Amino acid sequence: MNETPLDVKNAFKEKFKEEPRLFYSPGRINLIGEHIDYNDGFVMPAAIDKGIYFAIALNDAEKINCYSIDFDEIISLSLSQVEKMDGWKNYVLGVVNEFQKMNLPVKGFDCAFGGNIPIGGGLSSSAALEGGISFGLNELCNFEMSRKDLALLGQRAEHNFPGVMCGIMDQYANMMGKKNTVILLDTMNVTSEYIPLEIEGYEIILINTKVHHSLAASEYNQRRKECEKGLEILKKGLHIHSFRDIKKPEDLLPFKNEMGNEIYNRCLFVVEEILRTKKAAHLLKENDLAGFGKLMFQTHEGLKNLYQVSCKELDFLVNAAKENQDVIGARLMGGGFGGCTINIVRQEGVESFLSRILSDYKKQFNIEAESYDVKVVDGTHEILRMELFP
Ligand code: GLA
Repeated sequence: MNETPLDVKNAFKEKFKEEPRLFYSPGRINLIGEHIDYNDGFVMPAAIDKGIYFAIALNDAEKINCYSIDFDEIISLSLSQVEKMDGWKNYVLGVVNEFQKMNLPVKGFDCAFGGNIPIGGGLSSSAALEGGISFGLNELCNFEMSRKDLALLGQRAEHNFPGVMCGIMDQYANMMGKKNTVILLDTMNVTSEYIPLEIEGYEIILINTKVHHSLAASEYNQRRKECEKGLEILKKGLHIHSFRDIKKPEDLLPFKNEMGNEIYNRCLFVVEEILRTKKAAHLLKENDLAGFGKLMFQTHEGLKNLYQVSCKELDFLVNAAKENQDVIGARLMGGGFGGCTINIVRQEGVESFLSRILSDYKKQFNIEAESYDVKVVDGTHEILRMELFP
């Protein structure tokens, strides 16, 4: 994956005849608050300069023609035949299906897309795909839906077609992202606050394990169910509505027997992570990056031991990061079972950190990990001036 907007425009021109409009739809990072967007927690994502470019035009033909440059595959079907398919096609068709369910008249369209986001790397290429299609169609068909409603539509598309019962974090970051700020998102009320990302002297470095263990989707849905079961028990015993109403992790202890170890551990992580993210937001506002970084390491421990969504490759990278004085925080990011770690690293230490960790990783797993130095950018938008996106 390494297409520029110009590559995407050219690929469109080779396949189709119209003059397309161009859009950029970003992937996301998440500084802290993992696996709590479907547990009424707070999360702290941001849109990044790794994403997908789309060239889209209406075609007067009542047909969807959509071309993925990377897979070199095309979907061609009538608007009345939208149904579940496999892989990337489900994200595109899932979005069309949601518009149709709202009785919004999607018109026939041609589309080509490609970009620079690693697929399956945990940077939410899926939300980027949903967001680009929904934003583009919203513009071209004049549906006038708000960004927030488009994010919610993308989430429903993901639930109904690929069947991943995701939270709202990825689609929200994709639509609502703002340059150089992180979003403190309250996932219960779907409201947010922007916090300036003032990290002069530091870089956000992602390291891609290059593994994606196949249980990711099924384990994800299972975690969600485990948390639902745990919450039911807590609701009865504590007269609360949500995990966020629990003020101290110790309040869970009396329910350990009834829950069983596994569900208890999941709930304990959720309660701790909600508290941790609130604290992290406070530290970020105070510009206490060192304190913030410590919480990131704690999140990783919880995801590994209590929530059990890590894997040996991710643990290796986080342990190696912890040993490096220039890294102030690191953890697995996203759903887990592979994908990327996120690291906050002192600028002058980045080069030596990377050369060491990438070669150690290669020795250990015989895999070439990749690293990305990411910048925080605006959410999905139309590209009006080509030169801004070389
Ligand atoms: C995936 C999901 C998100 C979120 C993260 C874990 O990226 O799509 O909704 O649950 O995992 O924090």
